[in-house]
Amino acid sequence: MSNKEDFISTVSHEMRTPLTSIRGFAQTMLASWDKIDDNSKKKFIEIIEQQSNRLIHLVENILSVTKIPNENLVMKKTDVNKSIQTTVQLIKQKYPNHNIELNLKKSNPSIYVDSEKLQQILINLIENACKYSDEGSNIFVTTKEDNKDVYICIQDEGVGIDEQYAEKIFEKFSRIDNPLTRKTQGSGLGLFITKSLTEKMNGEISFKNLEKGTIFELKFPQYNIEDHIKCSVVQ
Ligand SMILES: Nc1ncnc2c1ncn2[C@@H]1O[C@H](COP(=O)(O)OP(=O)(O)OP(=O)(O)O)[C@@H](O)[C@H]1O
Ligand SMILES: [Mg+2]
Repeated sequence: MSNKEDFISTVSHEMRTPLTSIRGFAQTMLASWDKIDDNSKKKFIEIIEQQSNRLIHLVENILSVTKIPNENLVMKKTDVNKSIQTTVQLIKQKYPNHNIELNLKKSNPSIYVDSEKLQQILINLIENACKYSDEGSNIFVTTKEDNKDVYICIQDEGVGIDEQYAEKIFEKFSRIDNPLTRKTQGSGLGLFITKSLTEKMNGEISFKNLEKGTIFELKFPQYNIEDHIKCSVVQ
């Protein structure tokens, strides 16, 4: 997506689909209220709710994208394990039929990030792992470290990502056409936001395909004495 006009035109296009559907179902109900049975009315209202949620998600993601260049990050010492545990609790409620397993290192060192943004990154990656794999499958969230960095890995047993799309998935509004992507809703902005925020916080993101599924890896520098000094100056 090269310029502002392209961005605005894609956003308008993405918004039109749910809006048209909301208006269509509302108009049908208004025009034929007495002829529609209660069951159908309920179905129509469910679709209106679903499409409104889709629109809200899209607007929230667009706001995140536009804020990124001037984002004021609140960098502080952050406990990786705690952030993962909080995120996974939230996601388990939304995807109760996936088996999310944590394998977190006990001696897990801290990293220097904006913890809300780290949460946003983790939500998108773990939610993607659920969205693009079948119910009942396993998702493994693992942490490891070397002497400078902390790694967070999110592994799924899902559809995988064809090598030809390796760069594309991190671009704005890119969704890969496959049955699971068609079945799930999404704005195609999650990985763009994830990569931009990760890099802004001095991290890196990469992924690899496995025999079945995908593994995304985040890498952040460990919290160190210089960060401690920066923290003290800010306070
Ligand atoms: N773990 C995964 N396994 C397989 N495909 C994936 C995975 N994660 C992402 N993808 C593919 O990459 C595309 C882009 O992902 P991204 O998170 O940016 O957008 P999204 O999930 O479609 O929408 P949202 O903006 O709601 O996150 C997805 O539509 C999907 O096709
Ligand atoms: Mg996503």
